[in-house]
Amino acid sequence: MENTVTVTIDGVTVKVKPTATILEAAKAAGVRIPVLCADDKLHPYGSCRICIVEVEKSPRKFTPSCTTPVNDNMSVKTMSPDLIEARKRILELLLNNHPLDCPICDKAGSCQLQDLVHEYGLGPSRFHEPKRTVAPSYHSKVIDREVSRCVLCGKCVRVCREQNAVGELAFTRRGDKSKVSTDFDQPLDCEFCGECVEICPVGALTTKQFKYKGRTWNLDRTTSVCNYCGCGCRTSYESRLGRIVRVKSAARNYLCSKGRFGWDAVHHPDRLATPLVRVGGELVPATWDEAIAMVVTNLHVIKNKKGADSIGGLGSVRTTNEESYLFQKFMRSVVGTNNVDLLARLKIPKGLDTDFFSGEIRKIGGHDAVLVLDGDVGELNPFTGIEIVRAVSQNYKKLVLVNSGFNKFNRLASVVLDYLTPEAALTDLLPALKTGKGGGDRVMQAAAILKEANSVAVIIPGRTTDKEYAQIKELLPLLKSVTTYPIVRRSNLQGALDMGVMPDYYPGYQKVGPDAMSKFAGSWNAVLPDDPGLTSLEMLAGIKTGKIAALYIMGDDPAGSDKGLKDILDKLEFLVVQDIFLTETAKLADVVLPASSIAEKTGTFTNLERRLQQLNRAEEPHGESRPDWDILHTLAKKMGSSMHYASPADILKEIRATVPLYADLDAGSVWPRERSPLAGADVDLSLSSDTVMKNDVITSDRLLFSSGTMITRSKEISTLCRTAVEV
Ligand code: FES
Repeated sequence: MENTVTVTIDGVTVKVKPTATILEAAKAAGVRIPVLCADDKLHPYGSCRICIVEVEKSPRKFTPSCTTPVNDNMSVKTMSPDLIEARKRILELLLNNHPLDCPICDKAGSCQLQDLVHEYGLGPSRFHEPKRTVAPSYHSKVIDREVSRCVLCGKCVRVCREQNAVGELAFTRRGDKSKVSTDFDQPLDCEFCGECVEICPVGALTTKQFKYKGRTWNLDRTTSVCNYCGCGCRTSYESRLGRIVRVKSAARNYLCSKGRFGWDAVHHPDRLATPLVRVGGELVPATWDEAIAMVVTNLHVIKNKKGADSIGGLGSVRTTNEESYLFQKFMRSVVGTNNVDLLARLKIPKGLDTDFFSGEIRKIGGHDAVLVLDGDVGELNPFTGIEIVRAVSQNYKKLVLVNSGFNKFNRLASVVLDYLTPEAALTDLLPALKTGKGGGDRVMQAAAILKEANSVAVIIPGRTTDKEYAQIKELLPLLKSVTTYPIVRRSNLQGALDMGVMPDYYPGYQKVGPDAMSKFAGSWNAVLPDDPGLTSLEMLAGIKTGKIAALYIMGDDPAGSDKGLKDILDKLEFLVVQDIFLTETAKLADVVLPASSIAEKTGTFTNLERRLQQLNRAEEPHGESRPDWDILHTLAKKMGSSMHYASPADILKEIRATVPLYADLDAGSVWPRERSPLAGADVDLSLSSDTVMKNDVITSDRLLFSSGTMITRSKEISTLCRTAVEV
């Protein structure tokens, strides 16, 4: 039985771990103690003293509850008249230097200091000395520092160090000259995740993006999901008068710079507002009826002339599950071909849905050791990176890092294996794990850490060679207990795969063949094609040979990723592009259909943990744009389909009926790996580098600050990184 102690807080008795603090025990007892410098995310610090309590039989009058551990049979009072008076004095001292500029402070309404002063009902100050003023700093990108408002709680300093392992901020000077600043008071030069702004209890740190955009009590809040990588962090859109003004982390957990600041792309002036059709070689605005009619006519003509298999569809990892499901259903049941795929399959970690199913990211810190096989994890899946930092800096776990470069993880690692590739590192590490010999000191040290650990989290690179894939499969049984965490760069890749946007699998990894075909034909009330279709690369190669005459691209920009594809796409007889911007690919299209952005629609995503997540609409669609599902639905009906959906919820209902993995999956839950028809199967959902080379189609990798339809249109992100601006 777990070791516990008994503590009484304001007469409520609870049992807690002996390592708990009084503050934690109070939470367990349902008693609120006011705090300012304490935060669940951080180690206790004890700087503000607002959390003081009275401990019976203690020689000290007051004790800070956030830093004091409990004792067995401890009895604590949290709200005696003396405590209330002492807290008032603490607040009075804080206000002595804090500017009372709440009317122009962005934090007003969600300021912990303001709330506490209101709660304790402070009267006029007894201090009449001039307030200490410190010059503000407006020179950093995206973040302003109003230093005079700082209460020196150190939360920003600690979150930057403990959670992000960046350490950009620190206390400088001494005594009443103390302040939080950067080295030599220089502008911030960090990851700009904005976690310091979010955790600041007052308005000392604010974002330029939100400055004077609204008062917090006037904002509407809509929870949704970030679409910048596979982690799928939960976001809260904050809007005023129907327009988003800020994005925060919905779960108060973490957002990277893209998630926090990159949303402004939805307001970019270049958003497509009307359909465009090509007339006389030029794309000109058209009505929805005209654009849809042009698509219907051309697809019918090409289908009748060259057959349904001369048409292909490229889906997206930016669209919702419902939209991906409808896209493959449209291609299969309306167009009549299995030529439907994702170019993003070029970037799937090999074995993602067969061998290396992901564990829960939040639980990385629960393992004894973490083996990171890709040092870029912090850029590719920032939340996974944060959990690795927390594992080391807060839970004191061991980190073995394979990294040929140098980044923050090198400073945290117990051992760094400085190899150019995971393959080279594993070539030395595997024999060391098996025989306990060879490979040099560092490799032996790494092997010892991994062997000793009762459980290991293994971070699998976003893309592996066949050799690395085999090596990792060989590695896993050598460790006591392993959870894999594949890096998944693209946001709803898992959902798009689950929804069968593949030429050889129906939704739920049901292989294209007579059994699955008759099941889906019955459920969709349609005649379906027999044979598996072409992969995305085969479709692109097929354009060159004339096998593919028309392409329908929803939410992807192959020509933007690889300029060489422009010439290939130019050969098409007919190209339809559905997107939110006039991308490089859309510029080549015969019909461009304007889609709504992620902030303007509802639906679901499935993140890399296979967790179903609910997206909600925070703004009305831009211009005449429509959600992708709505466009496909309209088009399908015009092409004679009997499908009918009133909303994405109707589509999800159908998904639940046809995809066993989703049958009882609620938002927030994960579909279990054991249920996958592919678990442990010898299949490869990724398009291997061999296929890429064979088809002579290469697309470039994307890192955190790199190209991308939305990120290149984000004003805030473009100020952070010049390479993000390419259009
Ligand atoms: Fe405990 Fe600040 S909250 S000292």
